[in-house]
Formats: sequence, structure tokens, C-alpha cells
Amino acid sequence: MNEIRVGILGLGTIGMGAARILIEQQELMSRRLGKTLRLVAAADRNLDRDFGLDLSEVRLTDDANEIVTADDIDLVIELIGGYEPARTFVARAIEHGKHVVTANKALIAKHGEALFPLAAEKGVAIGFEAAVAGGIPCLKALREGLAANAIESVYGILNGTCNFILTKMENEGADYADVLKEAQALGYAEADPTFDVEGIDTAHKLSILAAMAFGSKIRFDEVFTEGISKISAADIEAVHDLGYRIKLLGIAKPHKDDSGEERVEMRVHPTLVPLAAQIAQVSDSYNAVQVSGDFVEHTMYFGRGAGERPTASAVIADVVDIARVCSDGSADAVKYLAPPMGFVESARKELKTLPIADIRCEYYLRFMVQDQPGVIAAITSVLSDHRISLEALSQKERHATQAVAIVMLTHETTEGNLQAAISRITSLTHVEEDVLILRKESFGA
Ligand code: HSE
Repeated sequence: MNEIRVGILGLGTIGMGAARILIEQQELMSRRLGKTLRLVAAADRNLDRDFGLDLSEVRLTDDANEIVTADDIDLVIELIGGYEPARTFVARAIEHGKHVVTANKALIAKHGEALFPLAAEKGVAIGFEAAVAGGIPCLKALREGLAANAIESVYGILNGTCNFILTKMENEGADYADVLKEAQALGYAEADPTFDVEGIDTAHKLSILAAMAFGSKIRFDEVFTEGISKISAADIEAVHDLGYRIKLLGIAKPHKDDSGEERVEMRVHPTLVPLAAQIAQVSDSYNAVQVSGDFVEHTMYFGRGAGERPTASAVIADVVDIARVCSDGSADAVKYLAPPMGFVESARKELKTLPIADIRCEYYLRFMVQDQPGVIAAITSVLSDHRISLEALSQKERHATQAVAIVMLTHETTEGNLQAAISRITSLTHVEEDVLILRKESFGA
């Protein structure tokens, strides 16, 4: 078999990008592979439109079942997105002995642990490079390039929409809602933009990265997740004055306690990063993943994390990898591919997630208070009771509502201790309930 026959589910933004590469770059793919990648069929609910690409050689259908069961298709690319019906079609394709490539982070984060054994049982491959950080080949780097290392930390700017919004808010003092509309128009945002701005999309991606980094199982439901929807232009400015920038980061670290129990820290939240840190320079819709390993030290991967062409680039990279080993028809060819999560299945551990109350962090706190004598003393007295020490404190000038913003940077403490102090502070007279708590990462600064 000197060609691998491909079917695509979903001719949306990424689907059209993948089709474009398979058609327009077919010769380049053949030169790389010594075999032909052929786009045989594609399914989409809306076929009555101008695709802007010559699909005359491609069998088009509005029934995805035709693709996942077709005898003349070796590999199915799933680009429908979301949990269902994507999961059903992917499972069906695997059951019909087809390799699968997907850009669907929600699918892998939520159902990957059920799909990997199914694929192994059927002797087919499952590729999902495009699911994390779009066009950046960070999963391949982590899975293969860094295989010699025990991974010490993963930091990611993994959502282009949020990074675009935060960058515009900082550079132009722009309003959150207006910038979100612009990001949606540019085609970065998810169908449901709350997945972007509430951090869920980042949590999907982080859960995959963490499991691949530490050889653990994907535990998306246990990722602590906060989004950017409560950040105002004033907060961005106040943080900037202190020498920091706000980035929505996914953070994963391994832990081992005194008894030897291993746990995984996973959190997604707006994070203060020093202005001089490399990750702070990643602007607009760009993504970046910083991985540190015990031998390699710090590595960083940067590029486009969303959009038609970059995401399709990652999709086809997986297709090429699979075609390279699997198009000779041999039943166990997938053994020549790295395991999907970078560890042999039996060696992947059921590690527990570190409870958020146990993480240690430095914090940025913004209280709204009535400008009365003794308010700051009352707040700092509670912090002192909880042995939380301050690195910086400032008060912004009074404004029309009479409430003023008090901004503080703390030294390191546990989240549980910090939250206990905050609940005491918000019950103080003259302190409003609305408190902004941001976590800070120093990146060696
Ligand atoms: N909505 C995602 C983003 C697309 O904004 O980065 C890529 O997963």
C-alpha cells in the first residue's frame, strides 16, 4: 500500500486548512513520505457553499458515519470539535480499524483515557498534536524530544483568544467586551467563548500536557480553573505599575511529600509574570509553552496556537507520522510510533491532584475599601495573624464612589491560609466584598 487514504470530519476553519494541505501540498508530502496522502472523502453538515478549494476529486457527504465506516479510508481526521458527537464518531472510526487524528482538546481531555486503550486494542494510532497550542509541535517535543528528562514544570499560554484580549487591554486600555468581539471575528475563539475566557480551553490543554509530562492520567475535571472575565483595564495598569503583566497561564508541577506520595499540581488562572520574563513577551494571539526538565533545564516553544493554517499544520504532521509507519498494511505497525501519552500504558500512574488549598504562591490582592482611618491597619493585622508578609502595598487615589483600591503583593503562603485571611478581611467594616486575588510566578526574577 503506497498511499494512505484520508477522510475528514468537519470542513470548518481547521478542516478546510487540512484539506488545503492534503490537496495543495500533496507533492511535498509525497517527497517527505515516499508515499501518497490522498484526501478521499469529507463530511460536513453544510455542503451547499463555496469552499474556495477544488474538492472535485473528494467524495463529499453530510453523513459522518459514511466516513468512519468507509472501506476505502485508512485514517480519519476529526475536526468537528466539542465532546459529542465527536467522541462517538472517533470511537466508531477506531472500531472500524481506522487511525484517527484530531485537533479536539476537549475530546482528548475528557475522553482520551477511554479512547487510548480502544485504539491500542484495535492496533490503530491516535494523534492529537493540534489539540495543544495549535501549530506549535509542543506535544512531540515533550513526548519525544524531552524523553530523557524528569519534567519539573510546565507553563503555558495556551489560549490565543485570552492572550489577544489581555494584550489589547494592556496596549490600548481597551474594554474587555469589545476586544472579545474582535477575537471572535478573527476566528480564534471557541464556538462557546466562555470556554476561552473562563479558562476551560486552557484547562483542557493543560490536563493533556501535565499527564504527558509526568506520566500520569489525564484529570481535566481536577484542574483548578479561573478565567480572565473579571480582569479590568485598571487592574492591568495597577499590575504594570508594580512591574508585572497579567497572562492567563496553565501551570503544572510534580510534587512528592515526605511519605513519598506523588501528586500533580494543575492550575489555570490569570497570573502576574515579571515584565522581563520571556513568557511576558508572548503577545497577541500567540501561544507559548515553557517546559523545564532535570537535564535539559528550561525550554520554550512559541508560535501560533489557533487559526486555520497553523492548526492544520499540526494535524497533517500527525497524519505524516502515522502514514510513515502504518501504510504498509502490517497489523502492528503502530508499535513504531511513540505511545500517545509518551509512556507505555502500563507505566502511567494514577497520581492524585494536589488540592488547590495546598499550593504555595505569592499573591496580588486588590481590595476596595472606604477611605477611613485604620482600614489598612485592620487589613494588615489580619494578614499578620495568618503570618502573611507583604512585599508591596499601594493605595490609589479616591474616586467618585468613595471606595478606593488598595493593592498588595504578598510573599509566599499557602492558598488555604490566604483564603482564610481574605474571608476575615472581607468581613471587616469599610472593606467591600469585591476582592481580586491574582497569583504570581516569579520565573527566577
Ligand atoms: N479558542 C482557542 C484559542 C483555539 O483561542 O486559542 C485553539 O485551541
